[in-house]
Amino acid sequence: MTTAPQSSASQAAIRGSSPEAASLYGGPSSRRVRLADLQAAKHRGERWPMLTSYDQYTAGLFDELGIPVLLVGDSASNNVFGNETSLPVTTDELIPLARSVVRSTRRALVVADLPFGSYEASPQQAWSTAVRFMKEAGVHAVKLEGGISNAAQIELLSAGGIPVMGHVGFTPQREHVLSGYRVQGRDHAAEQVVADAQAAQEAGAFAVVLEMVPTAVAARITQKLRVPTIGIGAGPDCDAQVLVWQDMAGLRGGKLPRFVKQYGDLRGALSTAAQRFAEDVRDGVFPAAEHSFE
Ligand code: KIV
Repeated sequence: MTTAPQSSASQAAIRGSSPEAASLYGGPSSRRVRLADLQAAKHRGERWPMLTSYDQYTAGLFDELGIPVLLVGDSASNNVFGNETSLPVTTDELIPLARSVVRSTRRALVVADLPFGSYEASPQQAWSTAVRFMKEAGVHAVKLEGGISNAAQIELLSAGGIPVMGHVGFTPQREHVLSGYRVQGRDHAAEQVVADAQAAQEAGAFAVVLEMVPTAVAARITQKLRVPTIGIGAGPDCDAQVLVWQDMAGLRGGKLPRFVKQYGDLRGALSTAAQRFAEDVRDGVFPAAEHSFE
């Protein structure tokens, strides 16, 4: 297992700035959320929300609402680009989305996913990809999947000044090896997930996503780690929770994973608006005089 570099970026940042005393969610300041703020929220026992975002309107809105962390996930693959899985999306496709999210926020910490195939081969490959996201998109941190297996990548990036969010448990980029979307860490497999989360932290990760992990295992990891855990299908005891925004707001149709709760019906609202527009055009009601020029 890789040991934590004493001066990793996350540790330095956590020591180096003074966190807001007030709530992380919709806090009083309009300054950028920092790693130290997330760490301070863990110490206060304050839970916080994270949402995915891939475009200027959702980014601007979520930022105004005070969502402290936005993730330009590789889930853009199946929520923006129309792929079936997260595997096909590329760095070149994700960077413009990440740039748009960064440009549209003033406060949120913006994290970009390193896509499948862009970091696993070596720490140097991870460094090159992460630097592109930092320079070309201006993101504040990157996320990569894997604990023990990618600890060397996390260590190099963190030590070099790139904050890394880890992601363990079910890792969608490995869905073929994992035989599909399955809960990870049941029974004796729990130790593997705990070890992966610990490895990510020790390598320098400033937070760790726990995906599709039994509630008790996620609770144990959350207690054990110094850094915040962010759950998705990992029960209520994580330090933070994340959802894909289209799932959260009810835009996506079809069968949803058990861990999703829908807080809106955007699909319904959009269907009604599009149908009304189509009917108005067909009936000659739109455009009316007020939408036309003399
Ligand atoms: O890509 C993504 O959206 C994610 C989260 C759901 C954790 O990795």
